[in-house]
Amino acid sequence: MLEQLNEKDFGTPRRISEQEVTLEIDGMQVTVAAGTSIMRAAAEGGVNVPKLCATDSLEPFGSCRLCLVEIEGRKGYPASCTTPAEQGMKVRTQSPKLQALRKGVMELYKFVQQGGVLITEGGTATIFPEYNLTPGVTVEQGNAAARGCAINLLAQIKAALGDLDKVVRVVRIGGFVNSAPDFLDGPKVLNGASDLMVAAFGDKGRHARTTVGVASLPADAAVEVEGLFEVS
Ligand code: FES
Repeated sequence: MLEQLNEKDFGTPRRISEQEVTLEIDGMQVTVAAGTSIMRAAAEGGVNVPKLCATDSLEPFGSCRLCLVEIEGRKGYPASCTTPAEQGMKVRTQSPKLQALRKGVMELYKFVQQGGVLITEGGTATIFPEYNLTPGVTVEQGNAAARGCAINLLAQIKAALGDLDKVVRVVRIGGFVNSAPDFLDGPKVLNGASDLMVAAFGDKGRHARTTVGVASLPADAAVEVEGLFEVS
């Protein structure tokens, strides 16, 4: 998986369809299969939209909000990884407003490096308001949220070091699970983050871990994950 992370990443998986749509991205005409995300359409046309939580080996889940774009005639700033390209759409990936919004997003991604140790803050690494592990939400959804947190940690590492190959060892993962007092499956939820680390780094991804259930998390996130890494 580490090799895959270093290859060109189109942000979202390829879509296969007999139908095609043509849209305009930054003034350039791009034709893609129906169902393709704006992010992927842009990447196929040679335009890279900034991203943290999206990768073409996973379905997008729109966590980080770094990939916002402007679409002519639409209000707001949709995430390009979760918005499908449509016929005749006109998309802008760069503007002063988008730049300001992205700067705000990046300020939420924090890390500290001291010598060979990199600590990534869990903070607002992921926001899944629909995944509060109170009644009606499954362990599987929490597990997916934790996996999303781990992907965000990889993005933070890449932002800090420029290259995931500089990770010598994943030392420790700490996880907070937004859950009711009688919820006892926190470790199963955090497995989503741990499994992702092992998938990304192999044996170097095996780590010590703490899981704590909490009454609430910022922005009603389901899971918050922080990490401690030995780096070169
Ligand atoms: S890259 Fe689209 S929301 Fe994170």
